[in-house]
Amino acid sequence: MDIKRTRIADLLKRTDYGQEVLVKGWVRTKRGSKSVSFIALNDGSTIKNVQIVADLEKFSDELLKQITTGACLSVKGTMVESIGSGQSVEVQATDIEVLGLCGDDYPMQKKGQSFEYMRQHAHMRLRTNTFGAVMRIRHNMAMAIHTYFHEHGFYYFHTPLITASDCEGAGNMFQVTTKNLYDLKKDDQGKIIYDDDFFGQQTSLTVSGQLEGELGATALGAIYTFGPTFRAENSNTPRHLAEFWMIEPEIAFLDQEELMDLEEDFINYCVRWALDHCQDDLEFLNNMIDKTLLERLQSVLKESFVRLTYTEGINILQEAIKNGKKFEFPCNWGDDLASEHERFLVEEHFKKPVIMTDYPTAIKSFYMKQNEATADGGSIGYHGVKAPASTMQGTDVLFPQIGEIIGGSVREADYDRLMGEINRRQMDMTHLWWYLDTRRWGSCPHAGFGLGFERLILFVTGMQNIRDVIPFPRTPRSAEF
Ligand code: 4AD
Ligand code: MG
Repeated sequence: MDIKRTRIADLLKRTDYGQEVLVKGWVRTKRGSKSVSFIALNDGSTIKNVQIVADLEKFSDELLKQITTGACLSVKGTMVESIGSGQSVEVQATDIEVLGLCGDDYPMQKKGQSFEYMRQHAHMRLRTNTFGAVMRIRHNMAMAIHTYFHEHGFYYFHTPLITASDCEGAGNMFQVTTKNLYDLKKDDQGKIIYDDDFFGQQTSLTVSGQLEGELGATALGAIYTFGPTFRAENSNTPRHLAEFWMIEPEIAFLDQEELMDLEEDFINYCVRWALDHCQDDLEFLNNMIDKTLLERLQSVLKESFVRLTYTEGINILQEAIKNGKKFEFPCNWGDDLASEHERFLVEEHFKKPVIMTDYPTAIKSFYMKQNEATADGGSIGYHGVKAPASTMQGTDVLFPQIGEIIGGSVREADYDRLMGEINRRQMDMTHLWWYLDTRRWGSCPHAGFGLGFERLILFVTGMQNIRDVIPFPRTPRSAEF
């Protein structure tokens, strides 16, 4: 009778020694003595390899020569207790079949290749220990996210990827067209006419599902999206992708304090899930990539996040400058904080995650709830902190090593105030008429946020570059694989 294949992850948990087993996988290493070959086999189910012991006299030289790093094997044998392999189980081979040969030009053959080299071979890097660990953790984080929201009464809501509106208003969208760019029709003023394009109007890949998410939340109470988003920002940094996955919960009747509670509780849940479900992979990354990883994950769970206003944050930064701290970019009230400023607050000043709120209206998106204005042109925000100009209830989460991991806000629910801001920005609302209807018919206070999935994976894995936590990264001038 044919025996069924056992996943190596399952095999390594077994203790019923003496059983006949079938394992399949790829050769990680082969070493040997005069009489036996030791083959480390990995099938991707776990970071751990199973040791295959092959008596040289039982197998032909020809077959043994084919067992090289990267080759794919099917091995039948007896499961025995192991003394030397670092695992409790090894397989004494009775039958070895080479399913796929692997030549010595296999790009993942050598250990210790640079990440840049691996990116150039992203189709094969998945077979390395590091990328196996990162991808298994990525899967587990997706499960954590769905489980969290399902358990907390959120509905998984699917927003479109092709859209006619620019949620963030930053204009860095990829266009979607079926037209040959050379025969686009133009009007007298040279403006492109989209009448005969597929959708009959200009369309792009979405930068955020939030606006449609608000439609969901103001009907279903609480929703979340989890899907790819696209940004054509030409930022070649270790934190930006042109195609990244975003999680966007949106909740009716949630206020600023409750929004911050949700942001904190949600991230903590994900980090705890990683510690509970990805122990082997995290230990590997802690040993090989970042010796402080486990400690950092645990410390995030121990302490509560600092909550402070943008205005208070600027004061701290300016105080630091007075005391000799040097930054590359300016940080006066009104400036967008650079990553160096965010990281100073989180890593040096507070030494824990920060939820920053009440940003200047001028540097945030049109949909955010505005704080009470004061007679002198200022505003009063969270915990009564006074700001010199108009501010909005944007609540971003800043993380060690990462900077901004979440961007969120309470939404402006008042039609007139929202329209006032839209007019002030001279926004074209032709394609957002439906969004305004939420504020006309049964408008309700609501709030939400967007978590960059890859930034979460960066934090949880200790990896340094966002290109290394997604299987096939899309960045400026790079769309291979
Ligand atoms: O701060 P952002 O732009 O917020 C929004 O898009 C809101 N509409 C979200 C909402 O409230 N529903 O983006 C949210 C998060 C950022 O904090 C960051 O983690 C991630 O998305 N992000 C990126 N991640 C990778 N590459 C990029 N180019 C990213 N841009 C944003
Ligand atoms: Mg943001």
